[in-house]
Amino acid sequence: MKIMTSSTSATFTAALILMGNFFLSACQTAPAGDALYQELGGMEGITEITDNFIYEIGFDENIVRHFQETNLERFREKFIEQVCEVSGGPCSYSGDSMVEVHTNMNVTEAEFNRTVDLLVAAMNRSGIPHPVQNQLLARLAPTRPDIIYK
Ligand code: HEM
Repeated sequence: MKIMTSSTSATFTAALILMGNFFLSACQTAPAGDALYQELGGMEGITEITDNFIYEIGFDENIVRHFQETNLERFREKFIEQVCEVSGGPCSYSGDSMVEVHTNMNVTEAEFNRTVDLLVAAMNRSGIPHPVQNQLLARLAPTRPDIIYK
């Protein structure tokens, strides 16, 4: 297993900075039923949460090993899109299915739970209130059987 070193975590951080916020312009107007999207701070807030999430992953020795070969820019873009869509925002998820993406990773239940903890840490860092966090987690929960033990 490759342990996260300070230089690899610096690479994570540098990658985030280089990517910038060019996804912000992707979604301009929000349709009705977007209360959760608004409470997450819209595209700007979701982008910040996703960047915090990638940062948290970068410091978790066990979870980050799954991402050693990952195109982080793509992961960032697709995760933002997914959160935007499930929260009622004006985005359509254009990534691969959760089963396709996570097959052959053998993600355990404990790893799944840990990853959710990292997302919670990311939302805490963004100052998202816990009831709002719970709404997003409830909307992502149906992905669980598509991700673990694949
Ligand atoms: C709520 C749970 C999760 C959600 C909503 C989620 C969502 C996503 C999304 C949207 C992508 C990008 C798909 C694409 O590129 O088309 C992705 C990729 C990925 N996910 Fe997850 N994921 C979750 C849990 C996990 C867990 C628990 C792990 C491992 C511990 C994991 C590891 C990965 C990796 C390594 C990739 C990149 C795959 C690649 O390199 O092509 N994910 N995930």
